[in-house]
Amino acid sequence: MPTLKDTYPLYLNNRAEQPNADLEVTDKYTGEVAFRVALADPETIDRAIVGNVEAAEAMARLASYEKQDVLMHCVRRFQERFDELAYALCVEAGKPIKDSEGEVTRLIDTFRIAAEEAVRNYGEVMPLDISERARGYQSMWKRYPIGPCSFISPFNFPLNLAAHKIAPAIAMGCPFIIKPASKTPLGTIIMGEVLAECDVLPKGAFSVLPASRDGADLFTTDERLKLLSFTGSPGVGWDLKARCGKKKVVLELGGNAAVIIDEDADLDDALERVIFGAFYQSGQSCIGVQRIIIHEKVYDRFRDMLVDKAKTLVAGDPKDRETFIGPMISNGEASRLKGWIDEAVEGGADLLCGGGLSRGNMLEATLLENVHRDAKALNEEAFGPLAVLQKFSDFDAALDEVNRSVFGLQAGIFTRDLFKMFEAWDRLDVGGIVINDVPSYRVDNMPYGGVKDSGIGREGIRFAMEDMSEIRNLVVRRT
Ligand code: SIN
Repeated sequence: MPTLKDTYPLYLNNRAEQPNADLEVTDKYTGEVAFRVALADPETIDRAIVGNVEAAEAMARLASYEKQDVLMHCVRRFQERFDELAYALCVEAGKPIKDSEGEVTRLIDTFRIAAEEAVRNYGEVMPLDISERARGYQSMWKRYPIGPCSFISPFNFPLNLAAHKIAPAIAMGCPFIIKPASKTPLGTIIMGEVLAECDVLPKGAFSVLPASRDGADLFTTDERLKLLSFTGSPGVGWDLKARCGKKKVVLELGGNAAVIIDEDADLDDALERVIFGAFYQSGQSCIGVQRIIIHEKVYDRFRDMLVDKAKTLVAGDPKDRETFIGPMISNGEASRLKGWIDEAVEGGADLLCGGGLSRGNMLEATLLENVHRDAKALNEEAFGPLAVLQKFSDFDAALDEVNRSVFGLQAGIFTRDLFKMFEAWDRLDVGGIVINDVPSYRVDNMPYGGVKDSGIGREGIRFAMEDMSEIRNLVVRRT
């Protein structure tokens, strides 16, 4: 088993610094302090922004192959440090070791995709002679880096969701500062350590700055930063946007994703996927299945299958390879969700399985049915191991039910009917639809993001690079 150090530095202007070790990071299963991390104060953040501003031109002028080399260096180093990254994630996030390894694999994918995109920053030549007045004119446009970027990443995929900001920034040529989640900073610090090995990056190209939420105001308010990309809870995200001034804002926020199980679905196949989508990493995913909308003809059968399967899920120490359900990120989050379950049951819901809370943050895989339409369990973001069953008879009404949410990230539909698929594509108010799989499905090169309260902008390297750049047009008159 890899060993972790007692303390870790922050990265300021490409270099490790250990001004203090003020941030205690716990092992989320044992609750004990696992290591300590340096915490940036506002003055350190200001120095990092100065560094970014000074590095911006050199970053923009890096050749495509140089950016590709940096990203491929990361790919190689993450492959070499695979076990250490997975173990660190398992400890600091409480993510079961198999899921942690899955996330490191995705981290590597994300950097590899960015390495490919780094040499594909194409523009376009446009004829402008659409009428007499423009005879002899044409335009060419290409994308220029937007400049220094500010990133705030979450605890639930601390490696890969930080990678979805860092990797496109390098591919585009933007300097950046990143604040990892205080509960899970280590993965991003290791990324900083690996980037610090790349001498081609100009000084000031990046800083990795664990910081308290109160001390991190500059990430949002400072006008020298040209873009804020935030992944996290909707409440925090929209509040940050309101304080961002002139900068561009990308928000990857939460949801209460729905999956429709139509009457023609292959129920055995759907069962495996829905159980995974609802309960992997204890439901702590923005696209975790929270609402299971089942056709009345297969409702009873599929409900019984779900309940039987959910009861077999192995809960325990995330370091154990048999574990499927580990701890939630904190006791506070677990008791918040336990409260929602109790409230739903008091309001008339039937508890089909789960509902128990032990050790402070080990919440059982929980399924509810007959939930009151106003219950939090149905309308807000659970972000934990809870899913609610609902019945439908008419496919259109099921689509309405999916849309009856303030959120709109992804939706899943198990159907073999092509016409229903196209109807859903047209009608669902979400950023992505997944046919014959759960909304929790994501590959790291696809466009990913939400509508409504789930956010603005898209990630998925190419799409993030678009946000991290501005089009600059060149008009040429032939005389
Ligand atoms: C998220 O929870 O926002 C991301 C889910 C994923 O990348 O799989």
